[in-house]
Amino acid sequence: MASDQISKKLVVLGTGGTIAGTAENASDNIGYTAAQVGVAQLLDAVPGLPALLHGHQLLSEQVAQVDSKDMRFDIWQALAQRVVQHLAQPDVSAVIITHGTDTLEETAYFLHAVLPREQVRHKPVVLTCAMRPASAQNPDGPQNLMDAVTVALTPGAGGVVAVCAGTVHTALDVQKAHTYKLDAFSSGDAGALAYVEENQLRLLRNWPLAQEKYKHIAIENIAKLPTWPRVEIVMSYAGCTGEVVDALLRPGADGTLVRGLVVAATGNGTIHQALEAALRRAEQAGVRVVRATRCANGRVLPAVHSEFAHSQGLSPVKARIALMLELINP
Ligand code: SIN
Repeated sequence: MASDQISKKLVVLGTGGTIAGTAENASDNIGYTAAQVGVAQLLDAVPGLPALLHGHQLLSEQVAQVDSKDMRFDIWQALAQRVVQHLAQPDVSAVIITHGTDTLEETAYFLHAVLPREQVRHKPVVLTCAMRPASAQNPDGPQNLMDAVTVALTPGAGGVVAVCAGTVHTALDVQKAHTYKLDAFSSGDAGALAYVEENQLRLLRNWPLAQEKYKHIAIENIAKLPTWPRVEIVMSYAGCTGEVVDALLRPGADGTLVRGLVVAATGNGTIHQALEAALRRAEQAGVRVVRATRCANGRVLPAVHSEFAHSQGLSPVKARIALMLELINP
């Protein structure tokens, strides 16, 4: 068959979340159990999808079924591997991932950091989600799925992005910013990448390129990792002591030692003096320390008078992933 006759495929990988959640009562938008409905069933419940596919075949696969607050490294490993395997097929145009909103930004950043740049340059990976369960009277998941298909099939699309409530965010910038609103995500200072309006994409800036920093960490090596380096997040606040850091320096129940600490610092990366002293002790003990900010917007500017490395604009949870990846040395 000639290549222009090959029917194109769009793959949807399910991982759970509220988009797959159910409540006992359709009027209940918050008292539900996440990750109950299979991804194939979710897609079947969106009657408008076939019209958006422009001849693409829709394939689905359940990679995990979790409430994303419980996201695990082994799921990330499986997910990265499946994305790479699907995108390697010449007839696959893009991958969509259904995910819980709570840690969507972490999974998005992880994929942005590890997926081979060449593979996602013209084949986007689109995460989507919902704030209301599938059983809700007015669920938001079906529209978000439609919007994800629109993004995935937009000519020129690439990189790892997330779409929720008609707004498209890059993996680098996306952050859950609201506990309840359907438009729960923000891209902070960077602003949205695009909007989806009536099944059309309005692009505001360039599609993101995947990061190449971790290209030396082959996906196969990530997929085989038996354990991940232990990196914890501590926060600086009024009345802070360094005791939490001292406690973290003791071996865990299974004997593992902390190898990195990310501090969610105040403002432009400032740290309570008691915590700073403890972090210095940690660094002297060989623990890597990275300063991020607990502010939702802005970045830690390197000029601040502190000896600790700064997070290169990453939020504390994303800086933790970056530090774990740096510590992985297969
Ligand atoms: C989850 O993150 O899995 C539950 C919450 C949500 O998806 O909104």
